[in-house]
Amino acid sequence: MKNGKRCAVVTGAARGIGRGISLALAEHDYTVCAVGTRPKEAVAEYLGELTALSPESFYVQGDISSSGDRERIVGEAYEGLGTVDVLVNNAGVAPKVRADLFDMTEESFDRVLGINLRGAFFLTQAFARKMAADPAEGFRCVVFITSISASVSSVNRGEYCISKAGLSMAATLFADRLAEYGIRVYEVRPGIIATDMTAGVREKYDRLIAEGLCPIPRIGQPEDVGRTVLALADGALGYTTGQIIGVDGGMTIQKL
Ligand SMILES: NC(=O)c1ccc[n+]([C@@H]2O[C@H](COP(=O)([O-])OP(=O)(O)OC[C@H]3O[C@@H](n4cnc5c(N)ncnc54)[C@H](OP(=O)(O)O)[C@@H]3O)[C@@H](O)[C@H]2O)c1
Repeated sequence: MKNGKRCAVVTGAARGIGRGISLALAEHDYTVCAVGTRPKEAVAEYLGELTALSPESFYVQGDISSSGDRERIVGEAYEGLGTVDVLVNNAGVAPKVRADLFDMTEESFDRVLGINLRGAFFLTQAFARKMAADPAEGFRCVVFITSISASVSSVNRGEYCISKAGLSMAATLFADRLAEYGIRVYEVRPGIIATDMTAGVREKYDRLIAEGLCPIPRIGQPEDVGRTVLALADGALGYTTGQIIGVDGGMTIQKL
């Protein structure tokens, strides 16, 4: 809490799901440190929206797969915010090419795991050390945005599934480790959300949804995930940690 506002870090904040999350937080009295790979000038429109809702919010350019950038992100986040109440690990990538499991390359495996798993894990480790040492009062939590792909197989993007399954265990581990500091940890598993990541396969997903893939018969929106993360950040599920919340329109319900 700084100047009466709760403080949050959101990675991959300038578009897609991260945009939905960061704007939901900014709209509800959070100061947000928004992290992304693009230079500040390239995200000017987003930053305008963010600071219109929350004037002290700011942007840090950084690549979470780089250890130097991670160190700088943590430094600039604490410098600007003073404290961190909420960390949202949202940044992530899909494979550049959807290749069958037989054809997946080591290069793609390393890239996807380097960002989605290694990057998010070590960024969280760096923030966790600071948060544990910070005698901050009030509700604090870390949220991991994984995916239904943590448990649902897609053989044409196996490296993505593996990265999200690993990140799911990272969430469990941090939930266990951070409980003694009063810091809760949650995993949010989106289903199919309308963002740049799904734009290339939108037609296929629209057809599957029309055919009944999701009991709630529509594609998800970044705001659906944003509202969920806001509730978690505000402590609505305060007597829980290490839990998985599916934001997937019921897609993972097993049916007979
Ligand atoms: N869309 C879906 O259906 C869906 C479903 C389940 C889970 N998810 C997960 O939700 C998260 C957000 O996905 P999205 O659909 O919003 O994707 P998106 O539209 O492609 O946006 C990805 C975001 O991650 C950031 N990012 C990528 N690599 C980064 C890196 N190395 N360092 C820092 N930031 C990085 C990007 O930053 P820039 O803006 O600077 O490029 C961008 O803001 C991902 O973890 C994804 O796996 C998405």
